[in-house]
Amino acid sequence: MGYTAETRVLQVNPQHPEPEVITAAAGVLRAGGLVAFPTETVYGLGANALDSQAIERIYLAKRRPAYDPLIAHVYDFAQVQQLAIDLPEIARPLTEHFWPGPLTLVFKRAPHVPESIAQGLDTVAIRMPAHPVARALLDQTGFPIAAPSANTFTRPSATTAAHVLEDLQGRVDLVLDGGASTIGLESTVIDLTQDPPVILRPGGVLLEDLKGLIPQLAVNPKYLSNPMPSASPGMMIKHYSPRANVMLFDGPIEVVLIAMADTAQRLIANGKKVGILTLEEEAVHFTGLGARIISLGKREDLSQIGRVLFGAMRALDVQGIDAILVHNFEKIGLGEAISDRLLRAASGRVIRVE
Ligand code: TXA
Ligand code: MG
Repeated sequence: MGYTAETRVLQVNPQHPEPEVITAAAGVLRAGGLVAFPTETVYGLGANALDSQAIERIYLAKRRPAYDPLIAHVYDFAQVQQLAIDLPEIARPLTEHFWPGPLTLVFKRAPHVPESIAQGLDTVAIRMPAHPVARALLDQTGFPIAAPSANTFTRPSATTAAHVLEDLQGRVDLVLDGGASTIGLESTVIDLTQDPPVILRPGGVLLEDLKGLIPQLAVNPKYLSNPMPSASPGMMIKHYSPRANVMLFDGPIEVVLIAMADTAQRLIANGKKVGILTLEEEAVHFTGLGARIISLGKREDLSQIGRVLFGAMRALDVQGIDAILVHNFEKIGLGEAISDRLLRAASGRVIRVE
């Protein structure tokens, strides 16, 4: 099936989704169509996870290469037992603790689940989202919904319906507009087929909290150096990138701020349009340079920073910015996921200053 000619947009109440809107969306999914919908992490581009033709349409719409597997979203644990086999014992406590929520678990795939969801891997990634719209949709359809983030391949994930339309207008049948995602960063992905389990992608559920249940939990040590690890192809380094060149600075903060201001000045003198993503308390270092400055929030408010990060990159892109300057975050709490997304946006290049 080819591209959709027209994209419908329906407003939906994020707390109390209107039944008629959910019925309409479920109808599109049942007919094999694509529906973009809000989740608490980012917007998802959904299709019936048990319909391999519908799954193919996701790859076409995203312009996603055929090696990146998708997450199956479920309504309850019974659906996990339909999709996966050989569940390890840790699955129960993990899901009881963190579901519904921003945690994705990789299991061995059940034989009847379309291979295309996992692109030939013998595994399947599963998440139970908490967002009332996502839950209502899963409840109404009765089948699991395959959904990657609703952005074009390598673009920052969409955290609003407007972002979805920016990338996917004309390529998705229906967009449910339920306002901005509250977390703004994707789920944490854990591979439970390895022992001990491995974090393939840091995200909304914190490493520190997971270690309470899995003390030996490791973060995939290869993902920074290896551009295409086979364990989780979505971990490839160029990901979540705006069109502008992202320059990621790292080092002692006072020196970093000076280096960023100098670099901005030099680029602007060379006729470049420069954007700076900064913390509220640091913005003063960049006034008067002629750069477009976006404050992400206060240093200690990592949830706020995570919520607005992708939108800020997109906002600078819309303004035709050539270079985005930003500095790294400490890998504590949500800082782990934020640094991960910044590193990918910068295609793995870090500018270290002493
Ligand atoms: O928060 C989220 O996870 C959002 C919302 C919509 O649920 N979804 C999302 O999907 O970010 P996507 O497709 O953009 O990222 C899924 C990640 C990728 O890194 C992918 O490689 C990994 O999960 N993944 C999916 N299936 C896998 C599998 N069978 N084995 C290993 N990694 C897998
Ligand atoms: Mg994605």
